[in-house]
Formats: sequence, structure tokens, C-alpha cells
Amino acid sequence: MNARTPNAAADVAAHLHSYTNLATHGQVEPLLITRGDGIHVEDEAGRRYIEGMSGLWCASLGFSHPRLVQAGIDALKTLPYYHTFNHRSNPAAAQLAERLLALAPVPMARVFFANSGSEANDSAVKMIWYYFNAIGKPAKKKIIARDRAYHGVTVASASLGGLAANHSDFDLPIDRILRTGSPHHYRDALPGESAEDFATRRADELEQLILNEGPDTVAAFFAEPVMGAGGVIVPPPTYFEKIQAVLRKYDVLLVADEVICGFGRTGEMFGSTTFGVRPDILTCAKSLSSAYVPISAVMVSQQIHEAMAANSGRIGTFGHGYTYSGHPVAAAVALETLKVYEDEGILTRTRELAPRFAQGLATQAERRIVGNMRAVGLIGALELMLDGAARTPFDPALKAGYQVAQYALEEGLIVRAMGDTVALCPPLIITPAEMDEMFARLGRALDRFEKTL
Ligand SMILES: Cc1ncc(COP(=O)(O)O)c(C=O)c1O
Repeated sequence: MNARTPNAAADVAAHLHSYTNLATHGQVEPLLITRGDGIHVEDEAGRRYIEGMSGLWCASLGFSHPRLVQAGIDALKTLPYYHTFNHRSNPAAAQLAERLLALAPVPMARVFFANSGSEANDSAVKMIWYYFNAIGKPAKKKIIARDRAYHGVTVASASLGGLAANHSDFDLPIDRILRTGSPHHYRDALPGESAEDFATRRADELEQLILNEGPDTVAAFFAEPVMGAGGVIVPPPTYFEKIQAVLRKYDVLLVADEVICGFGRTGEMFGSTTFGVRPDILTCAKSLSSAYVPISAVMVSQQIHEAMAANSGRIGTFGHGYTYSGHPVAAAVALETLKVYEDEGILTRTRELAPRFAQGLATQAERRIVGNMRAVGLIGALELMLDGAARTPFDPALKAGYQVAQYALEEGLIVRAMGDTVALCPPLIITPAEMDEMFARLGRALDRFEKTL
């Protein structure tokens, strides 16, 4: 083993890591990323990687966009901090709110700012509860989320999530959270069940759940347009149409978690547009600032805003908000990010590159060890199987996905393994040649893994 650098030593000795096996940190050496340019990042040893995941599905403009850097510098020089409590604001926060309302996939009335996707979703939960109290329906409080969902790690957001690691030994989920099936046709369909029949079944199950619980107790349904951390699950045709018909019937609000899908990832500004989702509340984060600074947002409909405003009038304040809500530096960088998306035609570019991306994945999916491939816009995944045709999964102990991700790292490509699903979500600024190189590296990683079988 090479001698540990001072930074790596400090990391092992002092840093309690996110989403890391704390027991093995130190045996598994930390990978310290020191710089980035375009779609590449570089580690302490000077090794370069294509960041095939845009970090955590977020750095859409890559790792060195000069306009975002400049926007941050200018904002820091002008007003490095101010808050938004008690009628205070700053120009960037006000302009960003206005811009987001103009971009929203459906008419929205107001924008609330937070710092992360988790906080945005937690805020949405609180706003839903506040709203139903405000309109005199205090029993309508339960929130439905889906298996395989990921909405963050704060107490309410983690409770909404459907992944075991977010609950185990954290004493979660909290009560008032209900669970329904995910739209994962490949994994969850009955033998021979078509995608549309599967969507109908999911909507029927949702209706049954609402009826069993009592519609007067069910407040909202949370959904990522494309489920990310659950395995890049692209909903089957008609799924959202059928789900929304059920929600409307029982007066259940729909929250679109656009934390990954927002700002071009699926080829539209929002995943809601791609999949015909008409949310009452929309949460977004990540690519809102291309991840250069932490910022997230919650957009609420007119109906919700009016009721919340009237209620806060009665109480005397809307008792929710963060020290950094609408932070002027974060808001300025986000505002510039949205301008860059427009000036550089990021949506058009994503749509033009999407077929090449899907083809790159499809080529790898011809291997025996790939059972299913999913892609929309510039987000996609391969689901690995011991025998794809026979749908025989790998023994989980083999950690097939993890192994492929490790080989990819050695080939200079960062991908993400979620179980045996290997995801790609490259910066939207990727060029066709860089995309070909990304798939060449992924191909070599898969070759190396296949040879070990
Ligand atoms: C769909 C979705 N919602 C919420 C979150 C939580 O965001 P954060 O990690 O910024 O709290 C994530 C993070 O990956 C996400 O993918």
C-alpha cells in the first residue's frame, strides 16, 4: 500500500463519512478528489476520471464552468450573506424565485428556498400538514411514498424513502407514512404482464391503499419522475396518468421530487413535463446550481399558498425557514446556472445526445450479464444479472455492481452501483466524443468483470 497522504490520514482520523461503511473506512482508502475540469475530476495522485455520475447526479455543467465561478465571486464580494426571515430578502433570491415560477412545469404560486433535497422534501411534508390544518382537515395527514424511493436523509425525508439502509437502526420511518409499490416493470411485473397492465395494477393498488386507510386521512403522494437512487427506474407508459387519476379522485396532493430530474436531465426542464406529471408541490435541488453551491427549492401551487398565507396570518408568522434560505451567493449561482442552461441550449443538447447515450447503454446491454437497460435523456442504468436472458440474478455476496464500479474506476470512469444496477448520469455538457470514451471505459470495466466469472 502506498503511504497515506496527510489529507487521506486526516480523513481517516477525523471525518465521519456520508454513506460509507464506517467500519472499513481506512482499510478502504479514501479517494480524495482535488480538482475538476469539464466532465473530469482528478484525485490527489493526479489520476483523472470521467465523472459519469455528475458527482451525485448534480454537477450538470461539469466541474469548471467559468460563469458559475464568476457569479459566486461577484456575489461574495457584494453581499456574502443575508437571510430571508421577517420580510427580509435579497435581489438574487427574489429574482431566482421569479425565474423558477416562469420555468415551472405547471402554474405555481411561490418558491421557498432551502439548502438540500432532504430539506426541501422535509419542508414539503411540513407544508402539507400545515395546509390541511389550514383548510380545516386536520385528519388528512398520511403521506404515501413508494418502494425504492429516495427523498433524502432528514427525519421525514428518510421516512419517505423506501430503501432499507435509510431506516435500519435509525428508528425510522416515522408514523403517518404509507408505502406503495414502485413502477419497476422489469423487477415487479407479473409474468407476461404488459407495461400498461402493470401501470394499471399499480394505480389499483394505490386506490386500494387510500380506501383502506380512509381517503380523509391521506394527504399526499411523493414521487420522483424517474426514480434515481432506487435504480434509475423509468415509469412505464400511462403510469403517471393512472396514478394521478386516483390522487385527484381522493383529493390527495402530488409532490414531484425533481431533485435529480429537474433542469434538463430527462430532456425537458423538468421530469414532470417528460412524464405528464402535474404536481401541487415540486421540490428541486442539485442541478439548480449545478451543485456548485448548496441550494434547493420548494414550489407550491396557488391553492396551497393561499391557505398557508391565511393560516400564517392567523398565527402571526409562517414558522419555518432556514438560516440559509435564499442565501444570496447560492441564489446568484443558481440564477446564473439557469441562464447558462438557456444560453448554451442545454435542453436541445441533451435531447440531441440522448439517442447516442441510449445506444451506448444498449450496446453494453447485449452482454449476457445485462438483464435490463433503462435510459431517458442523459440518465440511465444497466441491471446486471448472472444470466440476463434467464433473469438469474447474481448472488448478492458477489457484489457484482460494486465490482464493475471498481473496475470502471481503474479504467478512469466514475459510475454508481446501486446493488447490481450500474447507473450513469454524466454532466449535460458532455460532448459526443467524450460520451463514446465514457462507454469505451465502461465496456472495458464490464469485460474485466466478465472474465472473472
Ligand atoms: C430524488 C432525490 N430526492 C432527494 C434527495 C436528497 O437530496 P440531498 O442529498 O441534497 O439532501 C436526493 C439525493 O440524491 C434525490 O436523489
